[in-house]
Amino acid sequence: MKHKGFFITGTDTGVGKTIITAALARMLLNRGLDVGVMKPVETGCARGPKGLIPTDSEFLIKAGKSKDPKALITPYTLEAPVAPSEAADLAGVEINDEYILDCYLKLKERHDCMIVEGAGGLMVPIYQRLLVSDLIKLLELPIILVARPNLGTINHSLLSIRYAQDQGIPVLGFIVNRRHDRIHASEEKSPIIIEKLSGVPFLGTKPYIEDSLLDEEFIEKSAEYFEDLIQLDPLVL
Ligand SMILES: Nc1ncnc2c1ncn2[C@@H]1O[C@H](COP(=O)(O)OP(=O)(O)O)[C@@H](O)[C@H]1O
Ligand SMILES: [Mg+2]
Repeated sequence: MKHKGFFITGTDTGVGKTIITAALARMLLNRGLDVGVMKPVETGCARGPKGLIPTDSEFLIKAGKSKDPKALITPYTLEAPVAPSEAADLAGVEINDEYILDCYLKLKERHDCMIVEGAGGLMVPIYQRLLVSDLIKLLELPIILVARPNLGTINHSLLSIRYAQDQGIPVLGFIVNRRHDRIHASEEKSPIIIEKLSGVPFLGTKPYIEDSLLDEEFIEKSAEYFEDLIQLDPLVL
């Protein structure tokens, strides 16, 4: 298998990419796979006494029980809560895609498979004209798309899938993530419609999980849900 891993992207920011990346990493880990995690660029990092704190990255490190150097997992941490290209400009940082690739290859060498979380959606600018989709192509990874469940998701999901396919990026499937316990009438059929119109497999809806839980409990509960998604096996083995 060429890929040995996948890139998690979303139809938007805040759809649940970090939660899904963490859940999949822990699920594979629980199955005995040696999984590496990466979040190449993180923006909106609060400033602590020891520098910027990339909370997504730290959550993924916990979920993947990673012992890799943080500088490889997240080579670029930026303070402004805006798109990476703008946050980099504000900080006077030049984001180098070859450097990201270098970090990725070092991590890949250490693990059976890699899970990489993007920033925002597929057309978010990473630096100047470099988009998230360009980074995905550079890393040569297929994607799993995280979508929201509510009204509007058919359009956002189909646009993301069509764009990825036009870019030659393989789409392994999509996951619907429920961030609230309220269920809207439009939600029941949306995944089936997206699957039918795109031809991309629907991997499942992740239920809402009480987010007042401690991180470890939240991660384990989320991972448990994905244990039934056996379709993921051929992607990483
Ligand atoms: N299934 C879920 N159950 C409960 N809370 C969730 C769930 N998915 C996401 N959330 C909450 O929604 C917020 C955004 O999710 P996150 O994974 O950080 O999105 P993204 O990485 O796409 O920006 C987080 O604060 C997270 O705790
Ligand atoms: Mg995130």
